[in-house]
Amino acid sequence: MATIPRRTFIAASLGGMTAAVAGLGASEPEPPAGLAAAAARRRLFFGAAVRPDQLEAEGDLRQAVLAECSCITPELALKWGAVEPSRGRLVLQPMDALRDFAAKSGKRMRGHTLMWHRSVPDWAQAALQERADWGLISSYFDAVITRYGGAIKQWDVVNEPIDPGHRSDGLRENAFLKAFGPDYIARALVEARRLAPQGELLINEYGLEYDLSEERQRRNALLKLIERLKASGTPLDGVGLQAHLDLRKGRVATSTIKAFMRELAGFGLSIMITELDVKEAQYADSAAARDRMVSDEVRRYLDVALEQPAVAGLATWGLSDRHSWLEVTKADYARFPHAWKDGGGPGLNRGLPFDASMQRKPMYFAIQAALLGREKA
Ligand code: XIL
Repeated sequence: MATIPRRTFIAASLGGMTAAVAGLGASEPEPPAGLAAAAARRRLFFGAAVRPDQLEAEGDLRQAVLAECSCITPELALKWGAVEPSRGRLVLQPMDALRDFAAKSGKRMRGHTLMWHRSVPDWAQAALQERADWGLISSYFDAVITRYGGAIKQWDVVNEPIDPGHRSDGLRENAFLKAFGPDYIARALVEARRLAPQGELLINEYGLEYDLSEERQRRNALLKLIERLKASGTPLDGVGLQAHLDLRKGRVATSTIKAFMRELAGFGLSIMITELDVKEAQYADSAAARDRMVSDEVRRYLDVALEQPAVAGLATWGLSDRHSWLEVTKADYARFPHAWKDGGGPGLNRGLPFDASMQRKPMYFAIQAALLGREKA
């Protein structure tokens, strides 16, 4: 039998990569290949939002998802407007394709998202205004949870229910609230539990990371909502923190985030970081400087977030800048009237781990370092 130097064997079995090469004096195993492998060392998942058409058409994206992710989130395919664009006509092929991709490659899939004010199809919006017909909600839930409940264990049942500044309870005055009143949230969770008895049921929310008055109000309203749901015995297993970081807002408020997460965990909830990305502010700076600002912000956030033992995993909202939903807007251009006189421009927002040609950027290494920084006990 060939003898394998022990050090090499350990490194290989830990990370799937050979690290210790005789003579290089490496005594530490190399970081594992891929963010999912780094996350797995702390028993976390790492994932990204994907679109089946992009996965199919773009081999480099597919390879990156296969190598980096243990979990995928449908960016669009599960949303009500995508699944039921007209009443009773179900469009399931894109979700079926994702489910098959996940099954074949051994990835988990998150169920994003059932009730979101921005994904209500027009026909349902009109119908709900006309009549508070819960049957519309339950038949959509039934269609998708029954079909994908085998593949999806974690559901963002209600997305973005908080909108501070309008009602004393801080709830968003969306089509669901207008039709069914504030109890629509509990009702949706009960309905989801009925269809997915083993599923993990989440509320997913954004705008919770900064010391700004609006975000403070949103954190408080979310905590109060959770308190009411828990007090009434409503099935709620976790909370998704979207974590769309934004350099225009300053720096993430680390001690606030820490305290907020502790309160969430105190309700016995698990916490997912569901949509991590970074909106930039300084588009006129060099790409290297911009990448540094993005990666520093991500590291600040993850260092505090990953400390919280209730955090079960993290996902970015896309992997590559070329698919980011974050655009450089006209308002962004207007903030730099003297830049790009030569006719150039800032290019894309650089707020995801891979650049547009699918090269790893500093944000990638910030996520990897944060994951590897501390082993979960
Ligand atoms: C976004 C998609 O990325 C866009 O392509 C689409 O136009 C709008 O929705 N919060 C969420 C996600 O929960 O579903 C959103 O996804 C981004 C903000």
